[in-house]
Amino acid sequence: MVALYVYRGYAAPTLKEQGTRFGCRMNNPAELTETVLARCDLLARFSEEPDRLTRTFLCEPLRQVHECLSGWLRSAGLEVRTDAIGNLIGHRPAAHADAPLFLIGSHVDSVPNAGKYDGVLGVLLGLAAVQALNEKPLPFAVEVLAFSEEEGIRYRTPYLGSMAAAGRFESALLERTDAAGVSMADAIRHFGLEPARIPQAAYTGRQLLGYLEAHIEQGPVLEARNLPVGIVEAIVGQSRFWVSFHGKAGHAGTLPMELRQDALAAAAEFVLAVEQQARSVEGLRATVGTLAVTPSAVNVVPGSARLSLDIRHPHDVVRAQATAALWKQAAALASRRGVRFQIDQAEHHPAVPADPRLTELLADSVRAVGYSPYRMVSGAGHDAAVMASLTPMTMLFLRSPSGVSHHPDETVLPGDVGIALQVMVDFLERLAGVSR
Ligand code: HGY
Ligand code: MN
Ligand code: MN
Repeated sequence: MVALYVYRGYAAPTLKEQGTRFGCRMNNPAELTETVLARCDLLARFSEEPDRLTRTFLCEPLRQVHECLSGWLRSAGLEVRTDAIGNLIGHRPAAHADAPLFLIGSHVDSVPNAGKYDGVLGVLLGLAAVQALNEKPLPFAVEVLAFSEEEGIRYRTPYLGSMAAAGRFESALLERTDAAGVSMADAIRHFGLEPARIPQAAYTGRQLLGYLEAHIEQGPVLEARNLPVGIVEAIVGQSRFWVSFHGKAGHAGTLPMELRQDALAAAAEFVLAVEQQARSVEGLRATVGTLAVTPSAVNVVPGSARLSLDIRHPHDVVRAQATAALWKQAAALASRRGVRFQIDQAEHHPAVPADPRLTELLADSVRAVGYSPYRMVSGAGHDAAVMASLTPMTMLFLRSPSGVSHHPDETVLPGDVGIALQVMVDFLERLAGVSR
């Protein structure tokens, strides 16, 4: 039985408490804003770890997130379903049967030691925007999506939920195993879902109007401009690699320095080369976030070192050039050190522009709520980058105080959440106006 941790030691609220405390049907923006923030607090309690928020793909605490979210979606009058990759979806019908569909969503998985708002806030704001509309008939149906996996932590590949929704899920991934050796297919079955049904999760072929994602900026730009919200014009392209250096393990005491083939020293030189390269190219971000050493013993010269490389830029050609330059440096330092360098795994996600028409509509809504629509590029990846291959996409950013994210200090200002909610409600009404 996997231990179910409830983060920060709170007693997990009963389903009844969740339903009554936050589930009542309301359409007052101030009340809804308070509820969105309270719900973020509540969901942050469901973690795989006792003393910090970590919620990876289809982990046990995700069941509790689904229980809470399903209750809230139903109490807002939405029909709820879970697809075969674990996306939880709330459906608000349109005023008439064969109407098109508009999607609003974000993700409910997290990085290790995460903040409370990355992903979850966008799902809860989507629900709150639908609730604020109350029973107002729209000429399109709305679906609120809580994607099961965006960060790519458990199976080292991001966007599993939105890839399935966009009809781009690669079934070969089902054989991939996590750190405990559990295959993705088994993890899906253990969660009570059927991997063979993942193709049915795709929205391809549906009459879609578009996709909106609200998300914290996760950077310092809006705060520096003292703006509550921003409009995403494009999401940077990113590549993720796993690379290894293979040298020769040896005795820490007897092996002379000049005879060593130290894999960790080679990796360390490469890490600094990555930093140097990123500092030298405008707009380039490159990060080595993980490093594993073998055999990892105090008195053994490391034989192997495996690290991850995350590299991003608004222009794909610059990202490709920077990557090629790094591989050249890696090959040179490896041969100088007598170690072997190899790229174990690579995946690439191109830069994605937002849809101009929907983004202009969103800008009109930001103006209607009283703010100037600041347009910006997202350095973070989002499900919106994947959904853009399915349907026109637009994204709303909320200010990240002190620019912190992927960290427990991640936060939002309640006033900004209220403003974002007003923008989203205005956007849905505006979209209804141009869709009739
Ligand atoms: O890595 C990212 O940019 C996102 O948080 N998944
Ligand atoms: Mn994230
Ligand atoms: Mn996110």
